[in-house]
Amino acid sequence: MTTIQTWAERVFFGDTLDEKFLDCDLEITPDVEAKKTLWSDPGRPVELQVADRKDRKKLPKPSSLHDRNMRARTLHAFANHELMAIELCAFALLRFPDAPSAFRLGVAHILKDEQRHLKLYMDRMEALGTRLGDLPVNDHFWRTAPLLDAPLKWVCAINLTFEQANLDHAPMYAKYFADVEDMESSALMAQIAEEEIDHVGFGAQFLKQATPTGEKTFDVFINNLTFHNTADRARGRNFSEDLRRQSGLDEQFIQSMKEFR
Ligand SMILES: [Fe+2]
Ligand SMILES: [Fe+2]
Repeated sequence: MTTIQTWAERVFFGDTLDEKFLDCDLEITPDVEAKKTLWSDPGRPVELQVADRKDRKKLPKPSSLHDRNMRARTLHAFANHELMAIELCAFALLRFPDAPSAFRLGVAHILKDEQRHLKLYMDRMEALGTRLGDLPVNDHFWRTAPLLDAPLKWVCAINLTFEQANLDHAPMYAKYFADVEDMESSALMAQIAEEEIDHVGFGAQFLKQATPTGEKTFDVFINNLTFHNTADRARGRNFSEDLRRQSGLDEQFIQSMKEFR
């Protein structure tokens, strides 16, 4: 019988895509003996090693998305976000073995969602003629990882910065793809936006529980951010109050986020 610990180790350190996609039965034995694992770069297949800065490609401009190669390049960048999300979930399970089981199970479920998202992006990219690893990838989300030394900091970085921002980015890209009549890619982005609501919701719930009575959730959020995930990264150009509300973020948090400078 596998444990969350051994599953997370194989997903995190594995250097094949098969290991990144490894499944786990979450009805498992508790990880009583697990030790804390500090951050080191995850394993990656050769074609998904982080590229030198000079070799990386910028996210294509929305005005270029009539070109299928530019759409594939955009989806490749998003697929890499999903791959990093998988690894950061596995990392949380390894870094916080003694966190409450609700946290560990929640993260484990998100990890499985991110595996599914990666597969969806890979399938769509392949239909556009590009395979994962054909283009250089960055380590954008990894950079904050060594500083995430408590579950609350992990939640504030992953669920409440990167995933919160996706509540704005994903619907915007659903529209960009629809504008160039790529309805499959548009539907994919809409699905990602929909499922991101629960991931942000997990973070919102954790933040609420971690906020002392009489204090503001937004202040606790701000105090648990790190250099690489500042609050301005937690939103996109079209700020969606509605999706934030659906995720369970409180009204004061949403307005503070909207007005944050
Ligand atoms: Fe995702
Ligand atoms: Fe997510």
